[in-house]
Amino acid sequence: MDGNGRWAKKRMLPRIKGHEQGSQSVISAIRSCKKFGIKYLTLYAFSVENWARPKDEISGLMNLLIRFIKKYEKELHANKVRLRVLGRMEDMPEDVQVALNKVIEDTSCYTEYNLNLALSYGGRTEIVSACTKISRKVLSGALKPEDINENNFADNLYLPDIPDPDLMIRTSGEMRISNFLLWQLSYAEFYITDVLWPDFREKEFYKALLEYSNRDRRFGKVQSEQ
Ligand code: FPP
Repeated sequence: MDGNGRWAKKRMLPRIKGHEQGSQSVISAIRSCKKFGIKYLTLYAFSVENWARPKDEISGLMNLLIRFIKKYEKELHANKVRLRVLGRMEDMPEDVQVALNKVIEDTSCYTEYNLNLALSYGGRTEIVSACTKISRKVLSGALKPEDINENNFADNLYLPDIPDPDLMIRTSGEMRISNFLLWQLSYAEFYITDVLWPDFREKEFYKALLEYSNRDRRFGKVQSEQ
């Protein structure tokens, strides 16, 4: 969800105003998913690297998260959206954990729509944590090293039941993966737009989907004859 800072800078506003406007794009994206029938939405809201940002920006973002969760909790229920978090939840401030855990638990009964927030998330951290879990299984004798494969490796990622993303949208023209879902994005289609995240609303979402629908996905195979 890149470009919040630049959106604010252009208007000579503090960066947090860009994040606030960005949180409106979050609710717009959730609504668009429901409208277009997209069952899984994973948002990169805070990376492990983001802890190096100025303290006031971090606390502003944490407050914004709590306010957002409280404000839109009812809407998640109304639309039967299940909320989950991927990342090092244990790094998050206590009040953020409490607010999130309540909604995670209360929405755990929903199966159709899924909102996954990547918080204190890093793709490399996730892969290392999967290795730690697998090592424990090997040490306990539950798994043989020669039996490790892509499927049972992926079972040890943060949210193993979530299908790999079909589409990765990156706003503000950045051409990087920035440590996001390194394992899961192997065959995802990338859509990069110059639009800043606070301006990324339904029309922009639709444009991304339209472009995605014209992609030819071969998964490394030869295109089949029509
Ligand atoms: C990156 O833009 C954005 C973030 C690090 C934070 C994203 C957070 C939100 C959109 C709001 C809170 C989230 C939820 C789920 C309610 P940037 O700050 O790096 O922008 P820049 O590249 O223009 O500086």
